[in-house]
Amino acid sequence: MQNPDPQPTRRQFLSALAASSLAAPAVAMASAPARGPELLVRKALRPIAISSGNGMKAVELALAQMQAGVRPVDAAVAGVNLVENDPHDMSVGYGGRPNADGIVELDSCVMDGPTHLAGAVASLRNIKNPSLVALKVMRRTDHVLLVGEGALRFARLHGFKEENILTEEARKAWLRWRERLSTKDDWVPRKDNELPPKNGKQHDEDEEEREHGTIHLSALNSAGTLGAVTTTSGLAYKIPGRVGDSPLIGCGMWLDNDIGSAGSTGRGEAVILSNGSAQIVEQMRQGKSPTDACLELCKRIAHYTRISRLLTEDGKPAFQVNFYAINKKGEWGAASLYPSRCSLATEDGIERKDMAALYERRSK
Ligand code: GLY
Repeated sequence: MQNPDPQPTRRQFLSALAASSLAAPAVAMASAPARGPELLVRKALRPIAISSGNGMKAVELALAQMQAGVRPVDAAVAGVNLVENDPHDMSVGYGGRPNADGIVELDSCVMDGPTHLAGAVASLRNIKNPSLVALKVMRRTDHVLLVGEGALRFARLHGFKEENILTEEARKAWLRWRERLSTKDDWVPRKDNELPPKNGKQHDEDEEEREHGTIHLSALNSAGTLGAVTTTSGLAYKIPGRVGDSPLIGCGMWLDNDIGSAGSTGRGEAVILSNGSAQIVEQMRQGKSPTDACLELCKRIAHYTRISRLLTEDGKPAFQVNFYAINKKGEWGAASLYPSRCSLATEDGIERKDMAALYERRSK
């Protein structure tokens, strides 16, 4: 696909940089006032892509695309499209867990560093790749966020194919959830468990199945351009119309092309109430490393979590949140409330990495 919004030329890059009061750390300025104009010497950066634990293939593709010259936001979206299209990832796109009515509603946002533009969709039905629709919102409208029926109509008008994105596995998981909600209604569960084993284990009858799975991907290319995306089916069995952090610019994802990029997965309500990703970029602007910035937001979430239904017996958040970040120098970091792993792609290879954790383990 042709890139409709190419990278700035070297001349544009240098003049934008000279005009900026926030010169990027990756740019060294060697001045020689007596002999002539200032020279800007730009060091090539090592490209990097960071994602949630479910993003190993996504970061690999995003890095390869950036190395082939694709703009980071497009490379990031191409990466997460692999996961959106995967019927077995039940947290994102096709195969995502549905809402309480059994209908899959997807949320996504994208952001582009050089233009500082963003696009997002929320509660989008029947379209496999909400991230591609978010890209269209960014590039083909003067808006940032389209929701529900309006987002679907916009996608239709741009030629996106409507299809059934509720897989058999997700339908059966929903039915099982619905039938086990109450013994006082008319829904009666099967005696056996027809769901396939998860991580090699049968589903536990008492297991909490209302996951907040999501994928975030932040990408930086060798020219120092940032791009990012977050995409999700949101909280499993949510109230129809519920929107989490993922499509909200500044919450589930944020970037400032002079500073860095950040994104989140996990309980969206907690990320919204801490303005998570935007605050991480602000922490990096103040000089914090990506990991310390992510940890700071984990601490804030713990501080803001005050009501008992959201707390464990020992007073910690009874949910998970994960943050991922890269800065303009190409340094990465990640932290979560409880131990978790992220996916990382650099020129050294594709790796799963342990994230810093605020707490060692989660009690009941
Ligand atoms: N973080 C995804 C959601 O809560 O919807």
